Amino acid sequence: MSVPPIAEVLLSEEQIQSRVRALAGEIRRDYTGKDALFVTVLKGGLYFLADLTRALDMHVAIDFMAISSYRGGKGPSGAVRLVKDLDEELTGRHVLLVEDIIDTGLTASYLLRTLAARDPADLAICTLLERTARRIVPTLPIRYRGFEVPDLFLVGYGLDYRQYYRNLPYIGVLAPRTKDAA
Ligand code: PRP
Repeated sequence: MSVPPIAEVLLSEEQIQSRVRALAGEIRRDYTGKDALFVTVLKGGLYFLADLTRALDMHVAIDFMAISSYRGGKGPSGAVRLVKDLDEELTGRHVLLVEDIIDTGLTASYLLRTLAARDPADLAICTLLERTARRIVPTLPIRYRGFEVPDLFLVGYGLDYRQYYRNLPYIGVLAPRTKDAA
């Protein structure tokens, strides 16, 4: 197995954790006293969800979905299939979709359509990273965003290279090896 090295650190652990605490402060202000359910999609959002909810001093429920990404198909058609559904009911709840990154926006768009059909009281997005250079879906209800990031192959803090590097506490730029770049 050959895994390219990290060329540089884009966001350090300290930068990420400081931003996570700031986002948690905003979220706490907006969601305290509400029936809050934070939903993430496996696997990338796992680390952000874990740190964000631990930084929140309020009651919050969490749940997970898994999808088959359009990336495995024949292009960015938006064709996404639900592989693991939520355990929780959404009716009347304040649902926040927590993502590690929004790129094209196709994943979030699909998830929002799925979640909105279940009649939540409120539905919005919190994403740690946003890469607007790759956006296909123009409008998404991104209520909280950690960082805008450049169009580079990023790994760490949930982001992977062939399933590796997700567990880095920082976000790095993968050394170029153009045929593997996503
Ligand atoms: C990543 C990320 C988002 C999605 C964003 O997941 O976690 O869910 O890509 O990309 P988009 O805006 O272009 O749809 P990925 O499909 O890589 O799966 P993973 O979470 O298992 O890494």
